[in-house]
Amino acid sequence: MTGGERAGAFIATKEHRRFSEFADAVRQHRYIGLCFGAAGVGKTLSARRYAKWDVVEPLLVEWGPRKPSDAQLYAAAAGTRSVFYTPTVCCPFRELRDGIALLVTRAGICIDEHLHPGEFVRTGAMPNLAELLIVDEAERLSTPALEHLRDVFDRTGIGVILVGMPGIEKRLSRYPQLYSRVGFAHHYRSLQGDELTFVLTRHWRQLGLALDEADFTDAQAIASIARITGGNFRLLHRLFVQIGRILKINGLSVITNDVVEAVRSTLVIGAT
Ligand SMILES: Nc1ncnc2c1ncn2[C@@H]1O[C@H](COP(=O)(O)OP(=O)(O)OP(=O)(O)O)[C@@H](O)[C@H]1O
Ligand SMILES: [Mg+2]
Repeated sequence: MTGGERAGAFIATKEHRRFSEFADAVRQHRYIGLCFGAAGVGKTLSARRYAKWDVVEPLLVEWGPRKPSDAQLYAAAAGTRSVFYTPTVCCPFRELRDGIALLVTRAGICIDEHLHPGEFVRTGAMPNLAELLIVDEAERLSTPALEHLRDVFDRTGIGVILVGMPGIEKRLSRYPQLYSRVGFAHHYRSLQGDELTFVLTRHWRQLGLALDEADFTDAQAIASIARITGGNFRLLHRLFVQIGRILKINGLSVITNDVVEAVRSTLVIGAT
């Protein structure tokens, strides 16, 4: 994924709130949870946001010398107690096992650092303080990797969320032992109704325009955009990049249905 696509401000949608509640429940009750939804609806962004991963990840991955300002990062880690892991494509088993162990251990150390600041050495066996492991792109997990996750879950009691495309729940149902540990399944949906309009208003504003639902031209453009994108965040983003371009090239200042149709014809998604 490109930084450009992610660059826009995060919008705390209702779906994100639902995801957070779901993640809280998995974390609290220490289940395995499944989150599935179509490509581009915002699963990864929601999960990263929940784990405050944009804040915590650089520290956990680099693990370099400490600065006083790192206290904020420890606080963030202690606030979410979550670890976010994305397996690489065809991820070798050892990479997954070691990668997860490293992140969970380091997250535990950061949380401890927040809970007991200034103590030099913590002795004795401590239970790991991370409470939730979120694994994105769960389709990539091989059978041994799934077995390993079940083992981690059993041994450490950490809650696990597997994030993937619709259909992942069917695939996992073929692993009865893992599946029997699944406590919650969460369907991540695309934007609907008022919320879609809300997000569109923001996109309009980013282009320096104002959206007026009472204006027929705007209402028509909204209807076309809703139809073309189905409320999918990624498609919306792509559509608006092109809309911005077309408005600029043609010196236009209104998003009309014609503009939306012109954009649709240039996009791959227009064919659907
Ligand atoms: N809450 C949000 N606020 C702002 N933009 C968002 C939000 N959610 C998603 N987006 C936009 O949609 C894009 C796709 O989101 P994301 O990568 O999370 O989708 P996904 O469901 O994980 O897709 P995939 O199944 O393909 O991995 C993001 O890069 C971002 O541009
Ligand atoms: Mg994703």
